[in-house]
Amino acid sequence: MRKGSLSSSLYRLIYYSRNVIADRVPPAALPAEIEAIVEVSRRRNTAEQLTGCLLCSVSGFAQALEGGRDAVERTFDRIAADPRHADVMMISLIPVEKLSFPGCAMALAWHADSGSPDPLRHLIAEAAAGLPRATTGADMLRLLRAAADPLQLSKNDFVGPP
Ligand SMILES: Cc1cc2nc3c(=O)[nH]c(=O)nc-3n(C[C@H](O)[C@H](O)[C@H](O)COP(=O)(O)O)c2cc1C
Repeated sequence: MRKGSLSSSLYRLIYYSRNVIADRVPPAALPAEIEAIVEVSRRRNTAEQLTGCLLCSVSGFAQALEGGRDAVERTFDRIAADPRHADVMMISLIPVEKLSFPGCAMALAWHADSGSPDPLRHLIAEAAAGLPRATTGADMLRLLRAAADPLQLSKNDFVGPP
């Protein structure tokens, strides 16, 4: 492999969407539904050499997916067509030098509906109201990093937004 060719072929896609699972199952059943998504995601992403992080809350999902461009786009096409979420909004698709979630086929950051504010509610409500989006890819990456960090990533792994 040519020197530098690996890093220049890495891409990161970030999107958010509305969680519609929560509309059709009771809150107690939500974690099992999310686990099912994560289990398939980790298996498929490992096969595609993809890494990333999925933030789930009762109101929505936000996800970073990183790896080769073809694999990222192919996987996102499948994700976007999944009926378990709606109003899928891609925020960014950019080439990156380094992975932000190295070694994580899909880190899961689960926001339980238990007191602390839902980090996605505002964004989802704005999108539903047709308001312009103020959140950038870098903002969302920070949110995902902060949510995943205590659980599955060491500080040494941190790579900030480009
Ligand atoms: C919020 C959300 C995130 C998902 N993330 C991934 C993912 O990272 N990788 C993946 O392969 N599938 C992911 N999926 C599942 C896909 O939508 C799809 O069900 C799965 O890849 C199997 O596709 P297939 O039935 O066409 O083989 C996600 C689904 C949802 C609802």
